[in-house]
Amino acid sequence: MEIEELKRIAAGKAVSFIEPGMIVGLGTGSTTKFALLKISEMLKSGELYDITGVPTSVQTEELAKELDIPVSELNFHPQIDLTIDGADEVDKNLNLIKGGGGALLREKVVAQASKAEIIIVDESKISNHLGEKWAVPIEVLQFAVEVEKNFLRSIGGTPELRKTKNGEPFVTDEGNFILDTNFGVIENPKELAGLLEKRAGIVEHGLFLDLANKVIVAKEGGVDILRKNNT
Ligand code: A5P
Repeated sequence: MEIEELKRIAAGKAVSFIEPGMIVGLGTGSTTKFALLKISEMLKSGELYDITGVPTSVQTEELAKELDIPVSELNFHPQIDLTIDGADEVDKNLNLIKGGGGALLREKVVAQASKAEIIIVDESKISNHLGEKWAVPIEVLQFAVEVEKNFLRSIGGTPELRKTKNGEPFVTDEGNFILDTNFGVIENPKELAGLLEKRAGIVEHGLFLDLANKVIVAKEGGVDILRKNNT
């Protein structure tokens, strides 16, 4: 089966957890897009109703509006029932690397405001240890880029400023830059997160630890659901 088809199936499974009346966090990326398409289809058919989406990026907000999914702001709905989002890498403890699409800051704010976070990925994103496959996106103040690059090198990382296709620095929805930082295999993600969180110039990092309740994995032959704490 084509990978896109697998993602569509995983997204459909994630959307089946949405109930009428819910405030739903809408993630960012090519996998989450399938969830938005499914939500839109279900709203149109009447199978789903009375939901409010809180988008995690300008890109997702635009897509949701195009698809006629009602959206609102986090400040009006600071408690989210369920968020559906993608990830770049997932380990066996359901810890994640996110931010490939540059939306990690809003994604983490929304994840922390959510009663449940469901992640949808294809099986190529599953690792034994974070860092095996993906660098950690680290959102930094434009003012602090060089200082934080030096800091990241000092703790064993290899930072690279994310650029757009035109070669300009990529600017996040919050006006910051991203340093994609390769740490190799990350043996202790909590320790690394702690080091990053002490830095004033680092706004947020793409290590999402203890935030996902379920990871829906699209694979040949169907979907697997990995669960945290029997949720
Ligand atoms: C956006 O910043 C990311 O966290 C995405 O959720 C992540 O990169 C997964 O994206 P894809 O579903 O496009 O692979």
